[in-house]
Amino acid sequence: MTRSHTSTSAAETDIKTVPTAPAANSRRAPGPRGNLLLGSAVALQRDPLAFYTNMAQRYGEVVHTRLLFWPTFLVFHPDGVRHVLQEHHQNYDRNLFLYKGLQPFFGEGLATSSGPSWLQHRRLMQPAFHRSRLAALGTLMTEAIRDMLTGWQTAAEQEQPLEVGQEMLRLTLRILGQALFRVDLSDETDAIGQAFTELLTLLGEYVYLPFPPLNVPTPRNRRMQAGLRSLNAVVQRLIEEHRKPQKAQHDLLSLLLEALDAESRHGLSDRQVRDEVFTLLFAGHETTANALTWALYLLSHHPAVQQRLQAEVDTVLAGQTPTVEHLGALPYTRMVLEETLRLYPPGATIPRRAIASDHIGGFAIPTNSLVFLTPYITHRHPDFWERPEVFDPERFTPERVAARHRYAYFPFGGGPHLCIGQHFALMEAQLALAMIAQRYQLRLVPGQRIEPQVMVTIRPLSDVKMTLHRREPRQNNAVRSSVWEQAEG
Ligand code: HEM
Repeated sequence: MTRSHTSTSAAETDIKTVPTAPAANSRRAPGPRGNLLLGSAVALQRDPLAFYTNMAQRYGEVVHTRLLFWPTFLVFHPDGVRHVLQEHHQNYDRNLFLYKGLQPFFGEGLATSSGPSWLQHRRLMQPAFHRSRLAALGTLMTEAIRDMLTGWQTAAEQEQPLEVGQEMLRLTLRILGQALFRVDLSDETDAIGQAFTELLTLLGEYVYLPFPPLNVPTPRNRRMQAGLRSLNAVVQRLIEEHRKPQKAQHDLLSLLLEALDAESRHGLSDRQVRDEVFTLLFAGHETTANALTWALYLLSHHPAVQQRLQAEVDTVLAGQTPTVEHLGALPYTRMVLEETLRLYPPGATIPRRAIASDHIGGFAIPTNSLVFLTPYITHRHPDFWERPEVFDPERFTPERVAARHRYAYFPFGGGPHLCIGQHFALMEAQLALAMIAQRYQLRLVPGQRIEPQVMVTIRPLSDVKMTLHRREPRQNNAVRSSVWEQAEG
């Protein structure tokens, strides 16, 4: 099944020079004045999703506000999103104050850089994330999922609720560590696992509030510096081991170390590889875990969708562990994930800086403004989504996807910076959802109010406790034929 929003086309990764010039009749975008000193920074920090929703409802498609010193534009309409991410991407970089504060962690890593160094890294790394390369990671993923499900047995037998958010975080961390360098980062009895988990928690807080900056020796910053030093040492050791010819391993780190630029024949230095490893660990772990947690939560509220998912899984897999080859025959599982990513896209904001003045939707965008894209709002835009608040995987049939604006849905971004890990994430999440649905029915423990919260990613504000109910796969021939028709169509 080909879907426009999940394939990295050559056009999307091509860098073209797109001249931008302000339209003669550009207007000033509407928006709130906010606090005299801070602008809208306090409202944004207090509750980003409520702030964005309020702005979209009150002011429309392009909203002008201020965050501290920076004029800031919130762009909600898919045409504006396409303008920034794709058509005029040359005018929008990631030279952002927030990202500068993250330099000690990610250096020149792919997710926070722009310009020629970003492009060189992207070209070098792209092949390692190609679908054909990722297929080799299928078994590693299903083994980790199987171990997690085996670990759930006692909780199921004793009817003990499970905190699903933590389970998904552990799973995605284990898979990523194994895929990158064959180390189980979720193992907290392991020194690397421990250092990493602690640093990740601190980093989550720091990204949200990067004051005082890392070089001011507060207790939190000292712990972060210590965590950084120990993780740097571990990653450096892994790089050195992987550089030894006799130690050749078939993991992502080996692919990064082997990658050579087609023209220059140069590869990445140890420092550059270290920056990319940190970037991948951060970008590729919590995002997928949150997507899975939200999917399980939504399924527990929609028994008909859950049943249809189980029927597909039972019919296609007939009790077997799925492999990468099965994924194309599990379209409904994929649609459930895509609809989950519509309602709860893990990346809350995609920020950019306008290099030169421009205009979006007829509104003037001055040089150096911040431009924020928010999938959470655009994914609920009533002109593009009927009954936007309703969970309905049917929105993602191939016909309906083809008929929709490409940028009405962009959980993985778009244009040259399209998420490099999207196939990895979707493969992992589709396998996990299929294997969980095969063995268990999950029910939300009553009385919990699950609200979204933005802490770098959109995640549940509180624990998501669920009870597990074991199930045996059933054969269902009626579903079987419709599933295969869809897969073949
Ligand atoms: C459901 C899971 C995921 C979601 C929703 C997601 C979302 C995104 C988004 C929205 C961007 C674009 C950022 C921008 O334009 O500034 C992005 C970029 C990126 N993602 Fe993901 N991501 C996911 C999983 C992953 C995984 C599993 C990995 C790695 C293993 C990964 C690695 C990256 C990297 C390196 C970039 C930067 C790409 C570039 O600028 O060239 N992501 N992701």
